[in-house]
Amino acid sequence: MKIISIAENYEWISLMNKVVITPNHSIHWVTNESDLYDQLQVDKPSMVFLPDSASYDVYSVCNKISTSFPLTTTLLLFRSEEEVDMRSALKAGAGDVIFLSSPAAMINQDINLAIEDCELKSFQQQDLMPKKNARVITVCSTKGGVGKTTVAVNLAATYRKKFKVVVVDLDLQFGDVAMFFDVKPKKTIYDWAKEDKEGKLIENYLSYDKHAIAILAAPQRPEFAEVITGDDIRKALNNLRQLFDVVIIDASSYMNEIGLVALESSDDILLMTYLDLPTLKNSKILYDTLVSLQLEDRVRIVLNRQTKVLGITTSTVEKVVGKRIFSSLPVMEKAMVTAVNEGKPLSYSHPRSQVAKRIFQMAEKLYHPKKQSTIEIQKDIHLDPVGGRN
Ligand SMILES: Nc1ncnc2c1ncn2[C@@H]1O[C@H](COP(=O)(O)OP(=O)(O)OP(=O)(O)O)[C@@H](O)[C@H]1O
Ligand SMILES: [Mg+2]
Repeated sequence: MKIISIAENYEWISLMNKVVITPNHSIHWVTNESDLYDQLQVDKPSMVFLPDSASYDVYSVCNKISTSFPLTTTLLLFRSEEEVDMRSALKAGAGDVIFLSSPAAMINQDINLAIEDCELKSFQQQDLMPKKNARVITVCSTKGGVGKTTVAVNLAATYRKKFKVVVVDLDLQFGDVAMFFDVKPKKTIYDWAKEDKEGKLIENYLSYDKHAIAILAAPQRPEFAEVITGDDIRKALNNLRQLFDVVIIDASSYMNEIGLVALESSDDILLMTYLDLPTLKNSKILYDTLVSLQLEDRVRIVLNRQTKVLGITTSTVEKVVGKRIFSSLPVMEKAMVTAVNEGKPLSYSHPRSQVAKRIFQMAEKLYHPKKQSTIEIQKDIHLDPVGGRN
């Protein structure tokens, strides 16, 4: 696959060569925008590293590439986070945004994943892979503090490396998804429900983290939650399904019509539980409710803060709840506190931590539509597998 970049000046080239290390590909440099377009082909996958520049509008060039060359992935390069307008980047169809101020290892990982993404995209275009119809995953529990938001944001950060992801904060009164991503939303689900009667403009009400994970944030004030109905949620999810590959819902522990709509719309329901008897008893009640709604096949039990607790083992959990554990996450106090306080999911800040690894495995087990095709790509045209995942 061809990788192209515009050479602004020698300083830029040497900076890029230092941070952009792509083991199986070299960069083809062009000197201006029109030479760049000349290098691209409508039916061949390419990747463009497009540096922010005073000589062109980075978003319009990116937009032109996405519309005219559908198999080309454009990575926007900025010196630092302050310089990017994430909404414009997404609207322009950028594959990812790279900050040259980030650690070189992180830049490399992002670039390798983008290359993999780009290679897969060409197969997608050839109809070898399913069309966009998002996988909807709800994270729920009957008690607060069990780790729903932690799992929702970390799953999102894991999936973002391959997919377009949105996290919907359905903890409408006290939701803190945006805070976990260190994002201050300008608009929330409340503004959307109030202003967009047709429900077609939901994109305008999303906020984005610095890795372009979209967030439909919870209302700013708890009393605003009352105006949002189950029908609104159905409409929101139907629209988001068309726009994203993965929709992750962080549900409230309080079960009402809104929670039920989310559960019924989900392909996977992650029922979070914990090694203490009151939580297990409540998890059992929720599981029985889901069975009565005929949703049991979609339920995956996630045991958080797995640790040695006297008298309770994982088989106690399975016995009490009545379903096998799908995944368990260890206790990880220190890194978790830092991650939340800094607003950085563990999958970014501690990708090699046990929790991040388990969440990565969980993500793979839950949803991996491209696995088959990836294997075929590697077998058939001998592409080197691209690493860099946590
Ligand atoms: N495996 C873990 N090890 C250590 N701390 C954890 C773990 N999982 C979650 N936590 C911490 O527990 C607290 C509660 O987690 P979180 O906010 O994700 O729960 P929640 O179910 O979303 O709560 P709420 O119902 O209040 O929204 C957070 O401070 C989080 O950092
Ligand atoms: Mg929460």
